[in-house]
Amino acid sequence: MCGIVGIAGRNPVADRLVSALARLEYRGYDSAGIATLDRGQIQRRRAPGKLVNLASRLDRDPLAGNIGIGHTRWATHGAPTEVNAHPHATPRVAVVHNGIIENYRPLLVELAADGYLPITQTDSEVVAMMVTRWLDLGLAPAAAVQATISRLQGAFALVFLFHGEDNLLIAARQGSPLAVGYGAGETFLGSDALALSLFTDKVTYLEEGDWAVVTPDGASIRTREGGAVTRLVHVSATNSNMVEKGPHRHFMIKEIHEQPEAVSRVIGQFVDRRSDSLVERPLPFDFATLDRMTISACGTAYLAGAVSKYWFERFARLPVDIDIASEFRYRQPPMTPGGLALFISQSGETADTLAALRYCAANEQHIAAVVNVEESTISRESGAVFPLLCGPEIGVASTKAFTAQLTTLACLALTAGRKRGVIDDATFAVLLAALAALPGHLSKALAAEPQIAEIARGLTKASDVLFLGRGALYPIALEGALKLKEVSYIHAEGYAAGELKHGPIALVDEHVPVVVIAPSDELAGKTMSNMQEVAARGGPIILITDAEGAAQHADLAAQSIVMPSVHPFVAPIVAAVAVQILAYHTAVHMGADVDQPRNLAKSVTVE
Ligand code: AGP
Repeated sequence: MCGIVGIAGRNPVADRLVSALARLEYRGYDSAGIATLDRGQIQRRRAPGKLVNLASRLDRDPLAGNIGIGHTRWATHGAPTEVNAHPHATPRVAVVHNGIIENYRPLLVELAADGYLPITQTDSEVVAMMVTRWLDLGLAPAAAVQATISRLQGAFALVFLFHGEDNLLIAARQGSPLAVGYGAGETFLGSDALALSLFTDKVTYLEEGDWAVVTPDGASIRTREGGAVTRLVHVSATNSNMVEKGPHRHFMIKEIHEQPEAVSRVIGQFVDRRSDSLVERPLPFDFATLDRMTISACGTAYLAGAVSKYWFERFARLPVDIDIASEFRYRQPPMTPGGLALFISQSGETADTLAALRYCAANEQHIAAVVNVEESTISRESGAVFPLLCGPEIGVASTKAFTAQLTTLACLALTAGRKRGVIDDATFAVLLAALAALPGHLSKALAAEPQIAEIARGLTKASDVLFLGRGALYPIALEGALKLKEVSYIHAEGYAAGELKHGPIALVDEHVPVVVIAPSDELAGKTMSNMQEVAARGGPIILITDAEGAAQHADLAAQSIVMPSVHPFVAPIVAAVAVQILAYHTAVHMGADVDQPRNLAKSVTVE
């Protein structure tokens, strides 16, 4: 939700803190700030809005110092103003925080009784006040931090800077990710490897409850109880060109165009093209003996799961219960021990998904995860991980991760079907061939971008848009609506096409574009009836179909987007590209902030 960095160095840090924050801005961009220690004194510069405002502030009023911390914010408590911008500080300590301190109000009451009063509306400030009180009582910095974090409830990744301590940072994590980077005579802290990749590829991920005393010479990692612990030093694969836009105008369109390669990499993990068979991989569960599978995720990741329900049930005859994680975690469904719970998450840090995972683990489920960030918390807490390997996804609107998730889930559905002996060889060969041809089909789908960009112009004036789909294309209708909403701010809703006549058709008139996703499959005829209903009421239809569908039904559509003709099994993945491009160009025509839409953040690590 927010991005935090720290550098315990021997050279000036201000510019490098800002550069690292630029790598984290996708996590939140409501305000930004840094603090350094200049001749022992804590100095701060903060600015509301995007990082560029902080950079301008620093140009006018630079900061010296070889040790510092930084923060880019997605506001949870308190408006995105300079006063509420991190780092929060007292004369004795400065702190940056990612997460939510759930018990900050009672702590504020307790501190007020001792004469410590807040000046912001945030939850995070209470952390600086508590450490200050312990310092005032004579505790050393490390003891003051340990005493403080033992009182905090909720999720936090924290980095502290102390008055008079030229070579000391202290970091702590509970529920929000935090990594240590090791350089030559300098040590770095960051919310993820992306920020640290500017400085080093040697990275340690703090575990739940860990805290660390950090100096320019390294980090001493402790458990919640204070005992020293050694954590693995990874060589991170994240590198700079993964986080540059290259020739593209936005990360979102760059990542849309990376999809053929991303999907190809997923297929390469599961399919042995030489023998046209599935790669055998040991799993801690047996698809053949499963009675049911639970899937839980959020947002676009949830919609990938919703598509896969059709695949697992149709091709693997495996019943699937699916729910959005924020509902699942509180619904407390009964679970038979030994079941499989599958979690889907690009970031691997989404708080609701992680909570749902922990509920399932506590109910003796096998835990599997489809994740892009391999070092993430969800990844670490899963018994089986299916990595997307699609590289960092910077655009807040998820695109390549979505189609990589879909492809992974399609491969898992085939794996399950074969293990359960319910996909015969002939059907398996057809489905595998459809998957193998997918990267090429996605490349062809991308070639329709100029035409889709033109059609997108027609959406810019709409205040409401409907998306319709049937079967495994229904979640794609929901995803198309989500994409349009989150990047163009146009209200959009996805519906099962068959549901239109049960109410939503009342919305249809000549001002409400209706995007119908209907490649020529067994349900296309039914969906065409829905198109007739829309056309009869003057609703302008944008039909996303294939050549056969266009030939049969283009007369009903004001405009058609013709996608490659593919097997119905992979049609949802191809249609996803069309709705992504439609949303992207609508937003571009409207001059929207495509990569960093208002109010959003890339990774929602708080409830
Ligand atoms: C996707 O376009 C959205 N930005 C959002 O719905 C996202 O999919 C959701 O927050 C889940 O994130 P995750 O995949 O990192 O868990």
